[in-house]
Amino acid sequence: MTPEREWDVADEVEWGIEEDIVWEETDEDEETILELRNDSQPSFFVRKFAVVWWRNGFYKAGKVDGLIRVTPTRTLFFDEKGKLRLSINNSDIKEIKLHEHESDFSIFYNEIITNKEVYDITTGVDKAQSEQNHKDLKSAISGNYDAPLKEIVDLQIVTSNEGKIKEFISIFGKTNFNPVKTNIDYPEIQASSLEEVVDFGLSWLQGKIKPPFVIDDAGAFIDNLQGFPGVYSRYVYDTIGLEGVLKQMENVEERQCIFRCVLGLMTESGEKHRFVGECKGTLIDEQRGDRGFGYDPIFIPEGFDKTFAELTSEEKNSISHRGIAMRKLIDFLLK
Ligand code: IMP
Repeated sequence: MTPEREWDVADEVEWGIEEDIVWEETDEDEETILELRNDSQPSFFVRKFAVVWWRNGFYKAGKVDGLIRVTPTRTLFFDEKGKLRLSINNSDIKEIKLHEHESDFSIFYNEIITNKEVYDITTGVDKAQSEQNHKDLKSAISGNYDAPLKEIVDLQIVTSNEGKIKEFISIFGKTNFNPVKTNIDYPEIQASSLEEVVDFGLSWLQGKIKPPFVIDDAGAFIDNLQGFPGVYSRYVYDTIGLEGVLKQMENVEERQCIFRCVLGLMTESGEKHRFVGECKGTLIDEQRGDRGFGYDPIFIPEGFDKTFAELTSEEKNSISHRGIAMRKLIDFLLK
């Protein structure tokens, strides 16, 4: 096996969860070559590092928290569209193996062995997804693609909510659409339905953001409170919080609640479309779990005994109001 190459250049990648990755760039043969900073340990561990993974024929850049392993990444470059690419000639590839690396948590990576280098490319922390990714990568390299390669299209998601963005990225990861967080505050009008809020938001943003873009309005509609807080969910969350909601629900037996999500899409040709998802469940009388956001710790979806905040993001996305609406949006976009 090709030995891991000694690091001779150590350029640090500035890293922060809220910030874009800042790469150290050097020109080499007219390609922009990226050097990732390695720390001084010979074992090629870096703390907080930008990763690249394979999805449906594309490598994408992403970030992971924790310790991960990295070997030479000299052939990473930005293409003419600014997408991060890894260029390895298929014919140079001798072997691809999937490994699990254990540190504070398990992380999976594909080891790609070529005549010259060994590349360890992190695939993520999810075992099933990593195995799928490994299969996709192998089959893509042998010339088999599930679908013809499509150009990656940036899809602006207008929100300041980090929780929502994570859900978008998780669901859109398997498509050629790349969700990009766009933090523009648009007025949320006082309206009686999420649909009206979304329609107004789309019109207000038209001309201010390059389409295609998506806005998301969601809320918790509690049966016993005649659908309150509904369109006022954010306000209620920001003012009385979950404690306050639980207080309102003290000694209330009927605890059914529906989460609704309305996604609004503005297409490049200026058409507006809506996609709706709903998820029924009940509110419990305490907060459980630390995943998700908003009302997740007090909401148990139908058929489950865990709150949204206790489910993994994959589990939540598979049944949630936003997951359902996003899949409808994806079906539409892919057509
Ligand atoms: P927004 O106006 O669409 O940002 O959402 C209104 C409020 O509903 C948010 O501030 C959250 O508290 C809540 N919310 C929206 N979606 C979810 C969700 O998926 N889980 C939990 N709470 C949510």
